[in-house]
Amino acid sequence: MSLPTFLTISGSLRAGSFNTAILEHFAQFANGQANVAHSHYLGQLPLYNQDLDTDTPPAVVAAARAEIAASDFVVVATPEYNYGIPGPVKNWFDWMSRPYGAHVFLGKKVFIIGSAPSPRGGKNAVEYLRLGFTAIQAVVVGDEVLLPNIHETLNAAKSGDDATLTSVYTHILQSCQ
Ligand SMILES: Cc1cc2nc3c(=O)[nH]c(=O)nc-3n(C[C@H](O)[C@H](O)[C@H](O)COP(=O)(O)O)c2cc1C
Repeated sequence: MSLPTFLTISGSLRAGSFNTAILEHFAQFANGQANVAHSHYLGQLPLYNQDLDTDTPPAVVAAARAEIAASDFVVVATPEYNYGIPGPVKNWFDWMSRPYGAHVFLGKKVFIIGSAPSPRGGKNAVEYLRLGFTAIQAVVVGDEVLLPNIHETLNAAKSGDDATLTSVYTHILQSCQ
C-alpha cells in the first residue's frame, strides 16, 4: 500500500525559523507512515498581479501549484506578523487560490499550525488561514493548533521531552486520512 503524501509549507523565510523546524521535525516523525516533502516556493513567487495570472502564469507559480496538486495533504506552519498573516504567506495564498473555482486547493485537506516564541502562538495568522482556506473550499482538518513559547518547546524536544510536538504530529496524521 502506498503511503500518503504530505507537502509542508513554512510561513517564515528565516533560515533559523521555528516554524520550519517544526515541519522538519514532523517529517522525521512521520517517516514510515507518510511521504513528506517541503515546499520552497513561498519566497520565490512574484508579488501577486492579476495581469500575470493568466492561462500561462509565471513558471514558478505553475510549479508551486503543481506540487500542491500532486500532494494528498498540505501542512502549513506559520508565525503571525504584527497580529496578522505574514506578507509572503498572503502572497502565496492569493496565487494558490486562483484560477477562481478551479484552483489546486479545491477539496484539498489542509492542516494549519501556528507557532511563535511569544505567548500568542501565531493566533491571528492561524485564524485567518482557517477562514481563508474554508472560503476557497479547501478542507481544513484538525483542531486549531497554536504553539506558544515554541523556542522552549523545541529546546525541550532536543533534550528528549517531545511530548508536546509528538501529540501535534499524531493529531496531524490522524486528521489527514
Ligand atoms: C515583522 C514582525 C512582526 C512580528 N509580529 C508578531 C506578532 O504579531 N505576534 C507574535 O507572536 N510574534 C510576532 N513576531 C515575532 C515572531 O513570532 C518571531 O520572530 C518568530 O520567531 C517568527 O517565526 P519563525 O521563527 O518561524 O521565523 C514578529 C516578528 C516580525 C519579524
